[in-house]
Amino acid sequence: MAYDYSEIYFKKYNFIKTPIRYLLCKNWRIVSKYRSIFRKFDSYKKSKNNLEKNFSFEISLNSDLKEYSEFFNKNNWCFIDNFFSQETCKQIVQNWPGRHYFRPMKYISKQYDFGFEWNHTLKELPRYIEHHLYIKKLYNYLDSTEFKKIVNNLCNDKFNRSCFSISLTTAKKGSVLFPHKDAISLENNNISNPAINIIIFLKGTDDQEFSGGTGLYEDNEFKKVIFEPRKLNNSALIYRSRENFFHGFKEIQGKDKVRFTLNTQFTCLK
Ligand SMILES: [Fe+2]
Repeated sequence: MAYDYSEIYFKKYNFIKTPIRYLLCKNWRIVSKYRSIFRKFDSYKKSKNNLEKNFSFEISLNSDLKEYSEFFNKNNWCFIDNFFSQETCKQIVQNWPGRHYFRPMKYISKQYDFGFEWNHTLKELPRYIEHHLYIKKLYNYLDSTEFKKIVNNLCNDKFNRSCFSISLTTAKKGSVLFPHKDAISLENNNISNPAINIIIFLKGTDDQEFSGGTGLYEDNEFKKVIFEPRKLNNSALIYRSRENFFHGFKEIQGKDKVRFTLNTQFTCLK
């Protein structure tokens, strides 16, 4: 969950000003039910095909992230362009799950689709991931010893972090995320001090404002910018969750704009 929102956005997107969005959020379960028809049909079709056939996909990063360690430790955030190898990013984007696999927007403060939500307390990976082998591989990689080592090398401190949660998001024209802080920063010190948030932008519109680049701000009204990413194809924003930052993105403007992200949080689990 999130906290410390500014009231001005709830006024801007209230029932009178944005009735359709308001009703879609209130009735997200109905939208979800509608999507489930397509989901069931699609997954039935996929289960009939032999998905394992010819499947070979290895995840590779473009660097071991050590070169960003100094900047990260000085600023408590860093932005990495070309996060995955080009081929890895391309394969993930080409095999991105359809809209019906995502939960529709539920909160007016987070107007975009979430999917395949997983956290470390769950024994199994999310439902339907078996029909998305590229995504399954990606989740296994983020929860692997190899990636854990890379994250801890970037942080270069006393903590031994592990993967806390993973999710996918799809945003498009009209999507918005009000600036806020994440609830993980309110947890006890053992969890909140080492917590870091990793937002990997896999597909988006580069070099244009209002494209859904999640930025960091000193305030909760997008006024005091710390950093706003302009490269949304294969890049990552990493920051310490406990820091006094707000994060969010302004409403996406532009007819055909779409943004895919992979989000993961790391912290000490024991
Ligand atoms: Fe957040």
